[in-house]
Amino acid sequence: MRLDKLVSHGAGISRKQAAQVIRGSRVLVNGEAVTRPEAHCGEDALVTLDGRPLATGKRYYMLNKPLGMVCATRDSKEPTVLELLPAHLRRGIFPAGRLDKDTVGFVLLTNDGAFAHRVLSPKQRVGKTYRVTLNAAFSLEMLQLAFSQPMDLGGGDITSPARLHLLQGGNTPVAQLVIYEGRFHQVKRMFSRFGLTVTALERTAIGGLALDPDLAPGQWKPLTQEELDMVFSDASKP
Ligand code: URA
Repeated sequence: MRLDKLVSHGAGISRKQAAQVIRGSRVLVNGEAVTRPEAHCGEDALVTLDGRPLATGKRYYMLNKPLGMVCATRDSKEPTVLELLPAHLRRGIFPAGRLDKDTVGFVLLTNDGAFAHRVLSPKQRVGKTYRVTLNAAFSLEMLQLAFSQPMDLGGGDITSPARLHLLQGGNTPVAQLVIYEGRFHQVKRMFSRFGLTVTALERTAIGGLALDPDLAPGQWKPLTQEELDMVFSDASKP
């Protein structure tokens, strides 16, 4: 692959910006500065930008999903989260797990199917953490107990145990819920079983990796290897 293309994909920057950093001797290929953007580079080469290794083939992004977009690669009616990435970075990328149109927060975008499967498989027990705003007060003890056991959401859809904490009390309480699977409208359906309506929903973490507070809604960033490892080092795993 051409070096400027590889740096553009790996660092999440445009081809033009990639050419600039390459010409500025900031890119090393297997430890050697290569200053020609059009140079060819093997997929297995170690490429660094300012000393930071770049993912060559596989790419991973953290996106702060705004309201009103759907988690799909294409949709005939609604804008998709993929449209938030520049066109040159979109090829082969898909969201690893869906959030509803009216849910905001952390979406992982990748072109790595095996990685996405590992994140999403209930067997891997990668927690998905949500900040949930509700329409009415509730008994924390009662819900903690109910959510910590398998629960029938209807139609034989049985949840696996989840963890609930209260973040803020009052008439419109805010709770934190960690679930280890991704059933259709799962969080809303879990609270609805107890007559509660979710009025706002944000995914704040996937596994041990929290949504970067510096990412405004609609913004995204490439993930480092260290951040990817954090997805699977979830301190809150039961
Ligand atoms: N649960 C929901 O109900 N909606 C989401 O978007 C994610 C989890």
